[in-house]
Amino acid sequence: MDFKDKVVLITGASSGLGAAIAVYMSQLSAKLVLVGRNKKNLEAVAQQCEKSKGIKALSVIADVSKEADVERIVNETINHFGKLHVLVNNAGVVELGGIKDTAALSKYDKIMSTNVRGVLQLTMLAVPHLIKTKGNIVNISSIVSTRAAPGMLAYCMSKAALDHFTKCIALDLAADGVRVNAVNPGLVKTNILNVAGFSDVEVDSLSKKVIETTPLGKLAEADDIAAMVAFLASDCAKSITGCTHPVDSGKSLV
Ligand SMILES: NC(=O)c1ccc[n+]([C@@H]2O[C@H](COP(=O)([O-])OP(=O)(O)OC[C@H]3O[C@@H](n4cnc5c(N)ncnc54)[C@H](OP(=O)(O)O)[C@@H]3O)[C@@H](O)[C@H]2O)c1
Repeated sequence: MDFKDKVVLITGASSGLGAAIAVYMSQLSAKLVLVGRNKKNLEAVAQQCEKSKGIKALSVIADVSKEADVERIVNETINHFGKLHVLVNNAGVVELGGIKDTAALSKYDKIMSTNVRGVLQLTMLAVPHLIKTKGNIVNISSIVSTRAAPGMLAYCMSKAALDHFTKCIALDLAADGVRVNAVNPGLVKTNILNVAGFSDVEVDSLSKKVIETTPLGKLAEADDIAAMVAFLASDCAKSITGCTHPVDSGKSLV
């Protein structure tokens, strides 16, 4: 696989899976647009990417839940590189709480504005450029899109929406030669649960429980997700569109 002269835009590239996808793609010679809110973290990832093949990434500090920021992401990408081949919608947040949580409505709004609305707007603005290059889109969903997880109501709903978004727009864009797929990770150790309010001890205890009930007896790693994204974004997957792909050590089987 080779992404030489391909422009790849990754949201949420400042941490976790997005950072791993960025580094993986940099090793495959991609020209990267890295999006995140934390400037220091984003710059650190950009530097790591540049070390791979000496290709300088474009960093865009932006919040995907803000319309003006999303417009700026696409404008800066096209002003800088002139084209776009791959969009990886990875930025996402978790908020804990189920239907008995009295803050369920505001948590729903917060999660949907990043995990779904931001994805819809960025994709909508990127599509004309992806049609020109016959590029493709990879959405980072989750296995909780189809498996109900306790106490994560709005997050599960957001990932269910993202799976269906993937399928609907794959149909919309097929005649234009633009493919759209999703990667659905199981639990991967990143900052996401800490950001949602878990302590390190709670994350370790949850990870242990998940490992015990996972067929391969281990969690997936960030690089496993990055490898699947790269495969789907490459010509190796030229006949794959509208599909969701679990990377979860078999967790969704049980
Ligand atoms: N880790 C898992 O177990 C797991 C499992 C299934 C699916 N996922 C999905 O994988 C994706 C990445 O999660 P992760 O585990 O890598 O979490 P993470 O380490 O917390 O990283 C989340 C990334 O999203 C960015 N982000 C969040 N809100 C944003 C916003 N409004 N605007 C721009 N960027 C925003 C963060 O940027 P800043 O830090 O710069 O704000 C950060 O780069 C998410 O969509 C998540 O739902 C993760």
